[in-house]
Amino acid sequence: MPKKKMIHELYEMKKKGEKITFLTSYDFPTARFAEQAGMDMILVGDSLGMCVYGYAGTVPVTMDQMIVHAEAVRRGAWNTFVIGDMPFMSYQGSDESAVENAGRFLKEAGCDAVKLEGGVRVASRIRTLVDAGIVVMGHIGLTPQSSGQLGGHKAQGRTSEAAAMVVEDALAVQEAGAHMILLEAIPPEVGRYITETLSIPVLSIGAGMHCDGQLLIVSDMIGQFTAFTPKFVKKYADVAEVVLHAMQDYIKDVREGRFPTDDHCYHMIEGEEEKFLESLKR
Ligand code: KIV
Repeated sequence: MPKKKMIHELYEMKKKGEKITFLTSYDFPTARFAEQAGMDMILVGDSLGMCVYGYAGTVPVTMDQMIVHAEAVRRGAWNTFVIGDMPFMSYQGSDESAVENAGRFLKEAGCDAVKLEGGVRVASRIRTLVDAGIVVMGHIGLTPQSSGQLGGHKAQGRTSEAAAMVVEDALAVQEAGAHMILLEAIPPEVGRYITETLSIPVLSIGAGMHCDGQLLIVSDMIGQFTAFTPKFVKKYADVAEVVLHAMQDYIKDVREGRFPTDDHCYHMIEGEEEKFLESLKR
């Protein structure tokens, strides 16, 4: 059983140049697999809106949905650092609602930390959460909850001006007291600069190979989510194909009488069938 990594150990990993492994999970069995595989951290991401609920984006996801999934993940991965992703409008409104909702991830679901999107514009919110004693991961670059303002799900920081804004966000997140930061869909050159500049661990999802660790969305990584695949995804399995074939084989077997066989049946206890048939005659 792996030992759960705590925040200071993640800082040690950055110092030693050991890469941090990070994956989303939304349910008990997947979290179990992630822990057994030796994942350093799990994100209960609001990407479950698309990957589990079939929404077009993350905006409709509620705090109550996040808590149910975070609880299941925690039950599957007791010894892994689990981060709850604050859904849209769970922290934007006020410091009070941000603390209350972040607190729910810790108290109700047993999460180790929370993640929220935004740089300069949420810096004071990050400070409030940190002052409340909560471990916080910032998330900048492509921030899906505000993709409307960004003009869609587009890579950020590709011009020198835009890169400077991403760096400004990264510095604001660290300055506000965040313990870690996630960079999404920015050029590797910018990812490298931020990783070398910040003292906190810098995680990447589409921010290149120089960051302190990597995150993937499990449904992309195992080939379960098929609607679209971002450029930054590496697919390690094709679960959709495996599951589809299994279901087609099952349908065929039932229709053609190959399932169930005697091996799948619970027979009556010896001598009971005769008694049963006799009883029916009365
Ligand atoms: O919800 C999520 O999985 C995320 C990633 C896209 C970074 O926030």
